[in-house]
Amino acid sequence: MQNFNMNLAIIGTGYVGLTTGACFAHMGHRVICQDIDEGKISKLQAGETTMYEPGLSDLIQKVMGSGKLIFTPSLQKAIDESEIIFICVNTPPRADGHADLKYVDQVAREIAKNLKEYKIIVDKSTVPIKTAEKVKDTIKKYSNGFNDFDVVSNPEFLREGHAVEDILHPDRIVIGAESDRAKQKMLELYRPFTKNTDIPVTITSVKSAELIKHGANTFLASKISFANLIAEACENAGADAKEVLEAIGLDKRIGKHFLNHGIGFGGSCFPKDIKAFKKTLEILGIDHSFIDAVENINSRAVERFIKKIEKEMWVLDGKHIAVLGLSFKPNTDDIRNSPSLKIIERLKNDGAKIHAHDPKAMEKVKSVFGDIEYFNDPYECLKNCEALIVCTEWDEYKKMDLKKIKELMLTPILFDGRCVFSAHDARKHGITYVGVGNS
Ligand code: UGA
Repeated sequence: MQNFNMNLAIIGTGYVGLTTGACFAHMGHRVICQDIDEGKISKLQAGETTMYEPGLSDLIQKVMGSGKLIFTPSLQKAIDESEIIFICVNTPPRADGHADLKYVDQVAREIAKNLKEYKIIVDKSTVPIKTAEKVKDTIKKYSNGFNDFDVVSNPEFLREGHAVEDILHPDRIVIGAESDRAKQKMLELYRPFTKNTDIPVTITSVKSAELIKHGANTFLASKISFANLIAEACENAGADAKEVLEAIGLDKRIGKHFLNHGIGFGGSCFPKDIKAFKKTLEILGIDHSFIDAVENINSRAVERFIKKIEKEMWVLDGKHIAVLGLSFKPNTDDIRNSPSLKIIERLKNDGAKIHAHDPKAMEKVKSVFGDIEYFNDPYECLKNCEALIVCTEWDEYKKMDLKKIKELMLTPILFDGRCVFSAHDARKHGITYVGVGNS
């Protein structure tokens, strides 16, 4: 009989850990989520979700109710009661751009001290190639001679805003493992996800799995920067990036996804991961000018947009400017490396009075900017403003009425950083439209 009830530990109940844990529990496994942040654990134990992610809160309530998901601050309990331990701690960037692996190291040492029977330790956090090797050496060094364990790399590919769906219905599952025992156990773990589906499971060496994650994120970031390079060319030459990119994307080898131009990528993953991958290439003695170019184009995307605002608005001091969209992308309250915040900072420094709206991220931004005005309604936000800037393509904004926008604004000037509105429609309604990727 297939065993769908494995005992799992999730070490680090952040964004990746919490969603992964909830989804494994939903699939029938028994999951203990651990975190050193006792405040966070208390909230989760009380049924409060610590971040916004569509569908996650309901899923957690459901699996907690069935007893499949529990939360604890005790690392020892999590380790003792599980056969597979997922390391999901954060790997923030160091000053030199490389991933800081101090939390991974701390967890590896704690696991080593508590190892009494065979366990699989899984690197789920995004880490540079050869990290699993180091985790293995660390556990051996600190485990008082107990060596019956495997270290596996099992990267996640989940997108914020779609995380639950991405874990339950992934494009692929990548398992980097050395021993047959670990491979079999990992296949068993994922069987509830893969049975009766055609989800590809790729079994690789541990190092290949580590490289797949950094490679995939670097490729996606490059695709966005390519789109923004085309947008620059279109602006200077008088072509339209929307038309150009749509036609380029129709080639099946290229594909239309992730080919959207605008104010560039942000978030906690791409900026950090491509920096870490650059460092990895440097360590491997490989030229990384390709990634330098991707980063430069991405920074230019925001800069060019700010320049357009400054040019059109002339003096910003004392002008009221509405900013719609604060999160780095729609369907999340995550504001890390959000282009929107960079834009607000610059306009504020020039003396602009910022009115801001976001469907989910306002609470988080309040702790960054205490001196701007927040509105619960996007129309209220732009009322009497001299410019409107769209920084995040929330569905709510796509449905906004251009006629009403024109009537409510003092001077109807729209800076569209995410190609949410049609330039033609906006101009038809008497709005001055300044977008990205067309002259
Ligand atoms: C990304 C990857 O998509 C996931 O596969 C990966 O697992 C994750 O990083 C991670 O490493 O953990 P995420 O950061 O949630 O996920 O966000 P994306 O949906 O990839 O968007 C990243 C940024 O690119 C956003 O700022 C978005 O606005 C921007 N973007 C995306 C564009 O500017 N153009 C596009 O065509 C697509």
